[in-house]
Amino acid sequence: MKIGVMTSGGDAPGMNAAIRAVVRACAYYNVKCFGYYRGYEGIIENDFIELTSRSVKNIINKGGTMLKSARSEEFRLAEGRKKAYDNLKSEDVDALVLIGGDGTFTGGALFSKEFDIPVIGIPGTIDNDIYGTQFTIGYDTALNTVVEAVDKIRDTASSHNRLFFVEVMGRDAGFIALNSGIGAGAEEILIPEEDQPLEKLLESLKRSKISGKTSSIVIVAEGDKTGKNVFELAEYVKENLDDYSPRVTVLGHLQRGGSPSCFDRVLASRLGVKAVELLLDGKKDIMVGVRNNEVVATPIIEIMRCKNSINKELLRISDILSI
Ligand code: F6P
Repeated sequence: MKIGVMTSGGDAPGMNAAIRAVVRACAYYNVKCFGYYRGYEGIIENDFIELTSRSVKNIINKGGTMLKSARSEEFRLAEGRKKAYDNLKSEDVDALVLIGGDGTFTGGALFSKEFDIPVIGIPGTIDNDIYGTQFTIGYDTALNTVVEAVDKIRDTASSHNRLFFVEVMGRDAGFIALNSGIGAGAEEILIPEEDQPLEKLLESLKRSKISGKTSSIVIVAEGDKTGKNVFELAEYVKENLDDYSPRVTVLGHLQRGGSPSCFDRVLASRLGVKAVELLLDGKKDIMVGVRNNEVVATPIIEIMRCKNSINKELLRISDILSI
């Protein structure tokens, strides 16, 4: 058997650890492993490298992905997928391990259906927005990166008695904002899943002033529902509340980089090994994930249909603690 592995979509810390686990599990079971560059793009262009256990030395601790990543437009087209299939056949690749997010799996499920190539997904994204797993690879590292950054911003906020708006990643999901917000002790957390009226934000800031707070942090997810971007939010507060001259920090892509946390390395290692074992067991079109500390498999079709919902209880906790 020959297995292809690739990383696709936004990179996430721990993707290298997942590649390493797939490659080493293949070596352990005497299966050949090809690494495709830039996700589906690499399969379409037949751009690959044969990976042995030594090819993945010293990468468990590295951010990014040694196989590079991309979001392929060509793979969305039937022609692109046919090219990909022809290339896999010419190299005798029997199955694929896809490390990425839901876009990656949607393409993979379609490909598998059209050409009968078994695929197994491994969730790798900082957003943690994939059904079928409690944690995606990269999420824990990103949370720690955000908390570390906000801790530093807090030093300035506190020294200058200032209000800071900090924008974190998450176009459609508030996992990073919600959990880092609680971890960093934010005053307010604005997320895509919750329609929070702007008056509530003003009320909360007024209350804080009265209770003697001299500085505050508001965490805003990229896709928050206020209808204003983080700069407009700061402007709005400035216009509506005396005494505030808010500052804005957009953390941006620094959240995607850095050495993976131990949690992400262990998660990636477990999921990588399981993905190979399931393929060898004849399983296909599933994604491996973790639930209650057990590695579980969920059909990709179910992953496409369902959404991982945030824990609203955390919003309540945040409200209580920001008193
Ligand atoms: O899906 C991961 C993610 O980092 C999102 O949180 C963010 O909205 C998006 O990717 C940014 O994508 P790009 O790197 O293409 O700007």
